[in-house]
Amino acid sequence: MSRLSYGKYLKLDTLLACQELESAKAGAPAHDELLFIVTHQTYELWFKQALHELDRVLAIMGVAFVNEQDVGRALHCLERIAAIQKVMLDQIDVLETMTPLDFLDFRNLLTPSSGFQSAQFRTLENKLGLRRTQRLAYNEASYEGFLDAGDRARVARTESAASLFDVVEAWLARMPFVYFREFDFWREYRDGVTRMLDEDRETIEHRAQLSEPARRRQLAELDETRATFETVFDQAKYDAARAAGQRRLSYPAFLAALMIMLYRDEPILQNPFRLLTALVTIDENLSLWRYRHSLMVQRMIGAKIGTGGSAGVDYLKRTVEAHRVFLDFFNLSTFLIPRSMLPRLPAELARELGFSWNA
Ligand code: HEM
Repeated sequence: MSRLSYGKYLKLDTLLACQELESAKAGAPAHDELLFIVTHQTYELWFKQALHELDRVLAIMGVAFVNEQDVGRALHCLERIAAIQKVMLDQIDVLETMTPLDFLDFRNLLTPSSGFQSAQFRTLENKLGLRRTQRLAYNEASYEGFLDAGDRARVARTESAASLFDVVEAWLARMPFVYFREFDFWREYRDGVTRMLDEDRETIEHRAQLSEPARRRQLAELDETRATFETVFDQAKYDAARAAGQRRLSYPAFLAALMIMLYRDEPILQNPFRLLTALVTIDENLSLWRYRHSLMVQRMIGAKIGTGGSAGVDYLKRTVEAHRVFLDFFNLSTFLIPRSMLPRLPAELARELGFSWNA
């Protein structure tokens, strides 16, 4: 048997033979088409790696009881996905060294293919938790009609399976510390917020250097803040907002996530806090990629329609906001209060949330 070598291990013969220039086939090789192909292929390899990480996270978190050690492993995979996304963002700089005129040397030969048909990209979106109802229509049609027939069933399965959003939401909803013996986090938190807002009102009402119009404006703003908090204090209001699509997390999951954010200094909540932060980072990185990609498209093709036939740039720009998955985790910041106002945890609960070592 022949010894393993670098080239054999990496199947370089196959890998490096996968760049076929359409322009060369048409008899006029375009210098920049190789860059275009290599960049897209590299993306697909990173998508593959990101999906590999995501599948592990789904396997770890998608069970009825998640071990603490396993949370650390899932977190590690999520942080790797975020690091891969940074490379994906940077790759845009490389492709943008191609000028729009050089792109025109081969662009027409690519019709009707498009990145819109990337099955791995759709799989990634579905596994993260992008919902069908959220998706913007593309030429009044849904994305699967554009996929190759072989990919369609595979991608459809990822749409009905539990997503990262789903498994994290279920995990949060099971968090045991929100109600601990006599301690009711939610009641204590509500009291803390009320105290904070009452103190703010006192300050505004008695600050001597404020003019009357400024005082009235600040009090009106404070009333708005109070109204915002009311929308989460009352579960019926929260559920109504959720039914109207303004929130996605279930109420129990929302409470647990907020508690994690507020009490993240407690040792046992540090990994959960980092995990929620990783979700925010992944969502932000994907939004940044969508925006950078849309700008790259604009500088390459201006207002022309895409090779896939959409109103290219306009559609892509709108996905930046419409296709967010973990928005509820960003919005938790609205409900954070200063540490000094945080209800103190009962000693017994603080012990449960800490680490102790007995020699
Ligand atoms: C010159 C560079 C590029 C141009 C001009 C371009 C153009 C476009 C356009 C116009 C669309 C909208 C669909 C259509 O009508 O075709 C699109 C979608 C897409 N492109 Fe690109 N693209 C470029 C590079 C890339 C690269 C490097 C990737 C990496 C995989 C990529 C991935 C995608 C994906 C995933 C979509 C679907 C996005 C969504 O539906 O949210 N594109 N592209």
